[in-house]
Amino acid sequence: MGKVLLGVSSSIAIYKACELVRELRKSGHEVRVVLSLFSERFISKLTFEALSGNRAYVDWEGDPLLHINLPRWSDVFLIAPCSMNTLSKVALGIGDNLLTTCALSHKGHLLIAPAGNVEMYKNPAVQENLKRLKERGVIVIEPEEGKLLCEEEGQGRLASLERLLDWVEYALRPKPWKDKRVLLTVGATKEFIDRVRFISNLSSGLLGFSLARVFRWYGAQVRVVAGFTTAEEPPEVELTRVVSTQDMRERVRELVDWADVVVMNAAVADYRPLETYAGKIKKGRRLTLELVENPDILLELGREKGNKLLVGFALEEEEGLTEKAKEKLIRKNLDVVVANPLQSMGSGSYRGKVIFREGRVVDVEAENKLRAAECIVQAITEQLL
Ligand SMILES: Cc1cc2nc3c(=O)[nH]c(=O)nc-3n(C[C@H](O)[C@H](O)[C@H](O)COP(=O)(O)O)c2cc1C
Repeated sequence: MGKVLLGVSSSIAIYKACELVRELRKSGHEVRVVLSLFSERFISKLTFEALSGNRAYVDWEGDPLLHINLPRWSDVFLIAPCSMNTLSKVALGIGDNLLTTCALSHKGHLLIAPAGNVEMYKNPAVQENLKRLKERGVIVIEPEEGKLLCEEEGQGRLASLERLLDWVEYALRPKPWKDKRVLLTVGATKEFIDRVRFISNLSSGLLGFSLARVFRWYGAQVRVVAGFTTAEEPPEVELTRVVSTQDMRERVRELVDWADVVVMNAAVADYRPLETYAGKIKKGRRLTLELVENPDILLELGREKGNKLLVGFALEEEEGLTEKAKEKLIRKNLDVVVANPLQSMGSGSYRGKVIFREGRVVDVEAENKLRAAECIVQAITEQLL
């Protein structure tokens, strides 16, 4: 887990920084906070000391090398919220307080999350400074659109907590998947019986969305084709929604040439009703539903895969899990198959196996699906990159 230096400047979004400190610590990171002078008019450093469990700083306070030592201690320096004033000073190399001087002496990943009124944000001087920062490799976590505190609509709201946290994880990871393009399918497809009823399955999309996040953290460009999901969407990832297995097949075929790696995590419906009724079927009579088989997207991709890396998933009974998954890997011409026991569907924790064509089997056991996704990606990285 990482050491996060959190710079806090005087935007009204500063109250969100309190929650951010808590969430960073919940994710296992150590946090130190440095505030701009004006920030203390909004929230006292005492609050950040209590939340972070560490001293927080506004000024040098007896340590003349604090502006060197704090950045040197950190793995990541995140300024959130970043006022337009602090943003511009950092872009221009001005160090007139502890926070901006820390930014000057910091050598590692610098992340800046601006927040402010839309007109302030759109101001050409601010935009020029933003461009400068990006050109220098600073990660700018763009503010969001919406209703602002000043009652105006527009871009200016501090990025959501989920996005801020995701970017910290991104900054902490090496980038072995840089320049690789990963296409992922996620979630359950739905096959409609009539206008309101459908056949589907229990997939939440949690493991698939977690894989999308982790591939991004490790440097890949990620696109997701998602069916129905109940899990939270991954931040900063291009995502298209589809309904049926046939829709998913169509969308995957459109995107497959773009990808170097295809990860087929979606739990697609293998069958669909022969006919879909236009209205709502009335009750009161015996009904027989005739089902026809859907195309097997994974099998088709395996036939045409060329140099692409193809990763499939196998959900099977616990007994004979490895053998059944290996058989699927061979039959569908996959490079990797991730074998999940039936119990893993809809469950919070995870236990499964990553099986490679060469025969290597890696056991994965994790307390949550995000951690499991990271173990799966690490196993694939070790074996195939
Ligand atoms: C109530 C209040 C809210 C403010 N909100 C913002 C804001 O969201 N974004 C911003 O860039 N400036 C905001 N400002 C202006 C900054 O606080 C001001 O530019 C200050 O000099 C920035 O100093 P700092 O960057 O050292 O924290 C706000 C000021 C006040 C009084």
